[in-house]
Amino acid sequence: MLPTSIDPPARLLMGPGPINADPRVLRAMSSQLVGQYDPAMTGYMNETMALYREVFRTANEATLLVDGTSRAGIEAALVSLIEPGDRVLVPIFGRFGHLLREIAERCGAEVHVIEREWGSVFTTAELERAILDAQPKLVAIVHGDTSTTVAQPLAELGQLCARHGVLLYTDTTASLGGNTFELDAWGVDVATAGLQKCLAGPSGSAPITLSPAAVEVVNSRKSVEAGIRVTGDAVSAEPIRSNYFDLSQILDYWGPKRLNHHTEATTMLYGARECARILVEEGLANAVERHRLHGTAMVTGLLALGLTVFGDQSVRMNNVVGVHIPDGVGDAAVRGAMLHDYGIEIGTSFGPLAGRVWRIGTMGYNARRDTVLTTLATFEQVLRRAGHPVTAGSGVGAALDFYGE
Ligand SMILES: Cc1ncc(COP(=O)(O)O)c(C=O)c1O
Repeated sequence: MLPTSIDPPARLLMGPGPINADPRVLRAMSSQLVGQYDPAMTGYMNETMALYREVFRTANEATLLVDGTSRAGIEAALVSLIEPGDRVLVPIFGRFGHLLREIAERCGAEVHVIEREWGSVFTTAELERAILDAQPKLVAIVHGDTSTTVAQPLAELGQLCARHGVLLYTDTTASLGGNTFELDAWGVDVATAGLQKCLAGPSGSAPITLSPAAVEVVNSRKSVEAGIRVTGDAVSAEPIRSNYFDLSQILDYWGPKRLNHHTEATTMLYGARECARILVEEGLANAVERHRLHGTAMVTGLLALGLTVFGDQSVRMNNVVGVHIPDGVGDAAVRGAMLHDYGIEIGTSFGPLAGRVWRIGTMGYNARRDTVLTTLATFEQVLRRAGHPVTAGSGVGAALDFYGE
């Protein structure tokens, strides 16, 4: 029998992402396709590049989209920057640091790792020590690690990397748009992101930006594919180890040459362009402040419900908070009741935090007062039924008092 047409249940997604997409993004994504080289399409590509320069706060010409989820952006960055045998330093403070290490290893890098307990971040001294010890070509680090809800400060690391002649790559999938990020001012060479968190879109497109120094590294191994290659085009003896994620070729597709590579994912580009338009229209500083405001209101309400928060709060991301699951309260039962009785999704955790911490997001389209109050009101009911003592109205009341201030 033919399955029914798609009609997803109504959900309020208040976990660590994905979150509900902004309806503007969904409307943009329902627009009809145009051809790959239609002037309208290449015009949209150029506009998207300009918009993401504003989002990443950079003047980098090489600012574009990699087709695929955030992980595609990470792979494209690392496989294009790393030559087998290169030394790479990966400071790990959560699940996604482990992902960077894993990808760097698959790229053939000699990977050096330092680790921090989940919920904390590195000091500048620790990072400098590791750079001096490893003498890497590249430092690859997550900005905000969703798995732990904390963000590594990067401004000083950027200075350190510049001083030691090291390239700096960072994964801003979970932080961009909701937390201050200043690519040029901080001296970050390459950053990648995704749409499904503070950018208010679906997963499936990975914005990326590369400094001129990073572009030089990438282009040093450029190899134009047979079939489109003409006399004089670069052919490398050691080409980038992935064709799909070969940024030297992808840059030629997005640049004035418009050299054919993949067929740009048109509908995703419409969505990514609208995500950036929304942020730029709001103003990046205003968007960060909106995430700070509603994120803090959520924390205030959760504390008033008698919950305790996880991790170093001085470096907590604006858009996601971890709360300890109270003793005697069932993780899956609470999340199940939130979802099935009220249509609200909150997140579980991975690795050492699995079964110990819930993660609650206020990000992108869902960083709003009504979503915060609805989630707190619901959580109170569910926690009470699960046996956690709560004072009636305490969470919503505390959040309203906070907003009142
Ligand atoms: C910090 C971070 N990096 C990478 C990813 C992977 O993103 P994706 O699932 O879009 O590939 C995520 C997903 O949650 C993330 O939070």
